[in-house]
Amino acid sequence: MNQENVSLTAFAHQWILKNATNFQFAVDATCGNGLDSVFLAKNTTGKLFCFDIQEEAIQNTKAKLLQNHLHCQYQLIHDSHENIKQYIDTLSIDVAMMNLGYLPHGDHSITTTHTSTMKALDEIHKQLKGVMTILCYPGHAQGKIETQAVAKWIATLDSKQWTIETKRALHPDSPILYCLKKTCVDL
Ligand SMILES: C[S@@+](CC[C@H](N)C(=O)[O-])C[C@H]1O[C@@H](n2cnc3c(N)ncnc32)[C@H](O)[C@@H]1O
Repeated sequence: MNQENVSLTAFAHQWILKNATNFQFAVDATCGNGLDSVFLAKNTTGKLFCFDIQEEAIQNTKAKLLQNHLHCQYQLIHDSHENIKQYIDTLSIDVAMMNLGYLPHGDHSITTTHTSTMKALDEIHKQLKGVMTILCYPGHAQGKIETQAVAKWIATLDSKQWTIETKRALHPDSPILYCLKKTCVDL
């Protein structure tokens, strides 16, 4: 990860700690090298669900969680986040992170896509009662399409139910972080 991505990831962690009062059920929708999973596991009292389509990412995340002696309940799921409903069913999600793109130091051709990302966002946002961060990378071809799709999806969210903070640099290809908080669960 370059410096810009590291600082947006750090910002996402700080923002979550400021805005989430309860981490009973947490989701890392793209566990990759396990950095976000370790952060979530340190703060989760119930169960953490970690998704990735790459076995390498699942193993990296498992190793990171073990190295950090994290004893919270967690489930490593070698599947696409678009199938999240099969694993979490009706649980209310308190915190979700979706750090899109490809595995740093891995195969850059294996990346999140706008189709599966949109399906996952649709599922997660229905079951979310807390906060979610989405980190988008428009600096590569698939990431640009995906970033546009995420921006369009965010624009459809009801402002009576959600507060949304956006953090980005001025350059159009710089990563963009969306921080979403569900402010009103039942309308
Ligand atoms: C930027 S990395 C995630 C970084 C990670 N959160 C961390 O803290 O190290 C993006 C990850 O998304 C994964 N990914 C791509 N498509 C996916 C999908 N449909 N479902 C779940 N994970 C996916 C990639 O394999 C890659 O590991």
